[in-house]
Amino acid sequence: MSDAIVTVQHLGHTYLPGTPLESVALRDAHLTVARGEIAALIGTSGAGKSTLAHFTNGLLRPTEWGRVTILGQDLAAPELDPAALRRRVGLVFQYPHQQLFERYVGDDVAYGPRQLGLSGDALRERVRWAMEAVGLPFEAFRDRQTFSLSGGEMRRAALAGVLAMRPELLVLDEATTGLDPQGRREVHALLRRLRDEEGVTVLLISNDMDEVAEVAERVTVLHEGHTVLAGTAHDVFAQHAALAGAGLTLPTVGAIVRALAQEGITVPGRPITVCEAEEALWRTLHS
Ligand SMILES: Nc1ncnc2c1ncn2[C@@H]1O[C@H](COP(=O)(O)OP(=O)(O)O)[C@@H](O)[C@H]1O
Ligand SMILES: [Mg+2]
Repeated sequence: MSDAIVTVQHLGHTYLPGTPLESVALRDAHLTVARGEIAALIGTSGAGKSTLAHFTNGLLRPTEWGRVTILGQDLAAPELDPAALRRRVGLVFQYPHQQLFERYVGDDVAYGPRQLGLSGDALRERVRWAMEAVGLPFEAFRDRQTFSLSGGEMRRAALAGVLAMRPELLVLDEATTGLDPQGRREVHALLRRLRDEEGVTVLLISNDMDEVAEVAERVTVLHEGHTVLAGTAHDVFAQHAALAGAGLTLPTVGAIVRALAQEGITVPGRPITVCEAEEALWRTLHS
């Protein structure tokens, strides 16, 4: 892929090597994300998704085998400046308490842009924009204590803090977990808007196949540290047996379409989302 923002090849990673607590997280991981796309990384718990996510902004760097290039920079290069990379790649951690550390929400969201050198009105406007973008009204939330937020609000605050850096690549590690359905839809709309209007590239890590079918154009499947499938969402979700082998299921719509196919009823266009199913049914009923 010519304009790849993320290229991971044959990546391995072991935590605490040579100790009794040694744990092999990645064995042969591959991942390609092209500029301006919304890509998804899926896999069961323990598959290595978060570990791979930590490579995207240089928190982890290859120590065993494999090659990782992010925004044109080889993570193995000794001259790499991880701090500079972290300003361009926003990683929303799996657990918001890994991300939030300031006492007040407004300060927490301001932390990143302050590091970028913003101050005064520019800083305030950046924080306002990021908070409003994730559905936390600025005036109502900036003086709220971070520990007093609900689970969903904490997720939103963590996302705002990353967005406030205006990253070119946004990596969300199961960041919609714990949001209600409306909150999820809002985040999905935000991701599309960031991509369409600002060219932000998104890597969404998720265990929710319906969410992945809904928002991702390309999907990579990780299983026990190996990349076992990669392709367009339609191609990946057509591989029922391979997905099952990786411990995953089809999106709801895909499962219904597959069950109908087993009864001899073919739904045109292999729909995987509600919207696509609606169109397919409409066409079938009106043809
Ligand atoms: N900091 C760590 N120290 C030791 N082992 C870890 C650490 N983080 C993850 N692991 C192990 O690495 C494997 C992959 O974990 P992880 O990348 O978190 O997977 P996922 O995000 O897909 O659930 C798991 O077996 C996990 O127990
Ligand atoms: Mg994880």
